[in-house]
Amino acid sequence: MTYRIAVIAGDGVGPEVTAQARKAMHAAAQRFGFAVDETEYDLGGRRYLDTGEVLPDSVLEELRGHDALLVGAVGTPAVPPGVLERGLLLKVRFSFDQYVNLRPVKLYPGVPSPIAGLTPERCDIVMVRENTEGLYVGAGGAVYTGTPGEVAVQESLNTRMGVERVIRDAFARARSRRGRLTLCHKTNVLNHAGALWQRTFDEVAAEMPDVETDYVHVDAMCLYLVTQPERFDVVVTDNLFGDIITDLGAAVQGGLGLAASGNLNPSGAHPSMFEPVHGSAPDIAGRGWANPAAAVLSAAMCLAHLGEDDAAQALEGAVAAVLPTLGAMAGDGMGYSTDEIGDRIAAAVADVSPTAPASAPAAEQR
Ligand code: NAD
Ligand code: IPM
Ligand code: MN
Repeated sequence: MTYRIAVIAGDGVGPEVTAQARKAMHAAAQRFGFAVDETEYDLGGRRYLDTGEVLPDSVLEELRGHDALLVGAVGTPAVPPGVLERGLLLKVRFSFDQYVNLRPVKLYPGVPSPIAGLTPERCDIVMVRENTEGLYVGAGGAVYTGTPGEVAVQESLNTRMGVERVIRDAFARARSRRGRLTLCHKTNVLNHAGALWQRTFDEVAAEMPDVETDYVHVDAMCLYLVTQPERFDVVVTDNLFGDIITDLGAAVQGGLGLAASGNLNPSGAHPSMFEPVHGSAPDIAGRGWANPAAAVLSAAMCLAHLGEDDAAQALEGAVAAVLPTLGAMAGDGMGYSTDEIGDRIAAAVADVSPTAPASAPAAEQR
């Protein structure tokens, strides 16, 4: 079996961590008897500054022909905010209808969490973030720009179809895990969108009485994620809330360098895209200070999505084996460079037992 993977390493630490994900994938391919045929796409800040291009439609069509996309990060201080983020990442998420953004929040054994005394048993969550609607669609407009009378409107779009499909996906995941699903929203203030989300959630819940359901406002979620992460199994939420609470989740699980994500097109009609939760980290780029675990775990989610479950678990097991040997989870305190950590993970992929370490695999679960 040969998988065609499009690689967009991107900006800042993107290329540094993506190189490590590729090494780990190659080690797994060799061990488990499949091949990866990678095509590198030179997209991101430099391409934009050189040519004015972000993601030409012809390139989008080429990406569509792949089995999956592996992305590092895009965004650089040299380019105005949003140009690359909207023009590349959101364009791919929307064009390929990647409506599920799956973001595990899992504390691995031996990884220090900023939450004192937190144990892996208490922190094993899957966040399901709606990925094609909400405030991200760019609806709205501005008038009188640059004058004292300037008006800006940014609207959140929520469709019954879009809300229901992501909620159904989250219910299916809860069923295959510990059977608990939490809706996270702000129904006490967002009367229109909140009502649609809550009603849809309740209607789907009535079909699945075996799943225990719960509701938490997004502000309270920020409290509970820190004080009682064990409350949560699967969490479903809208696009912007999901963006924000998954950075908080990343902090709880040891840092942004450990947080993986998959932008999934569950129907398989278009390719899915796998990338760390973190961005291009311009503050540490070029120094070998980025933790590549998030990129490798995202590649593990990619392999799971392609059906290579043993390989996915080997990648996760290798990351779990290497993380406790680091002096810190980011920066020069790690004790090894990004590249050295990647070498150690790839070496571990070759001989780690292909069984997930702690409880459930971070890899995609349904
Ligand atoms: P960021 O995620 O790049 O960095 C936030 C903090 O986390 C920084 O202190 C950084 O050093 C640290 N960090 C990030 N990745 C790390 C890693 N692998 N190991 C150790 N530490 C790590 O967020 P930001 O600074 O707000 O954004 C920088 C740029 O990245 C912006 O242009 C933003 O739009 C973009 N961005 C892109 C993506 C993406 O491509 N998926 C995601 C988030 C942000
Ligand atoms: C993420 C990022 C993106 C988002 C940006 C860069 C468009 O923050 O993947 O979490 O907001 O979804
Ligand atoms: Mn984000």
